[in-house]
Amino acid sequence: MDAATQGLEIREAGEADRAAVLNIERRAFAQPEEAELVADLLADPTAEPRLSLLALFDGEPVGHILFTAAELEGAGRRVKAAILAPLAVLPKAQGKGCGGALIREGLKRLQAEGVELVFVLGHADYYPRHGFVPALPHGLEAPHPIPPEHHDAWMVQALKEDVLGMLRGTVRPAKTLARPELWREDEEPA
Ligand SMILES: CC(C)(COP(=O)(O)OP(=O)(O)OC[C@H]1O[C@@H](n2cnc3c(N)ncnc32)[C@H](O)[C@@H]1OP(=O)(O)O)[C@@H](O)C(=O)NCCC(=O)NCCS
Repeated sequence: MDAATQGLEIREAGEADRAAVLNIERRAFAQPEEAELVADLLADPTAEPRLSLLALFDGEPVGHILFTAAELEGAGRRVKAAILAPLAVLPKAQGKGCGGALIREGLKRLQAEGVELVFVLGHADYYPRHGFVPALPHGLEAPHPIPPEHHDAWMVQALKEDVLGMLRGTVRPAKTLARPELWREDEEPA
């Protein structure tokens, strides 16, 4: 643990953390949509298995990340995949390594569960710092077409060797994330 992440604890978010989680989402994005998305995903049986992690700085909840189940249609076999959406850190706690720590911890746990591919639609300058690469050049399509100017925002990370480039198909997310409006130009679920 380096100086920036001292005092940082990451643990699974439970039912008792619901208010803290939704508060983080609302305040990080400064709008209600992502908190509503999280509430919907937490109630969506097609999003299971889910991984919902809370970051606490000196005991105070400051960050949240959610991964939900996805499938890869057309891959020729069942592929265990997940979508990262959303990731949020309270403005006052940003820039201290919290977002990165949530991503790393999430990927570690998903890998232990046998998840092969993790997808995200998000900031193309942020997620590559944590191992994500553009998904379309690998033949991995988003649930709805991404406008060409945002192609780089659709990213993937392989948690197993030899799957990138071998598996191709279209990602089928939980029902909540399949809503076309979430995949339009000005709306990014992560
Ligand atoms: C994006 C977010 C989760 C990052 O959390 P964080 O705890 O500040 O992240 P970290 O401390 O691990 O990393 C901070 C670094 O990421 C960079 N960064 C933050 N947001 C970025 C973005 N949108 N694009 C590119 N880089 C970004 C910071 O400039 C900082 O860079 P530095 O290390 O060179 O100083 C947080 O800023 C946030 O909640 N933003 C609002 C919600 C949001 O946009 N979430 C979705 C991200 S797709």
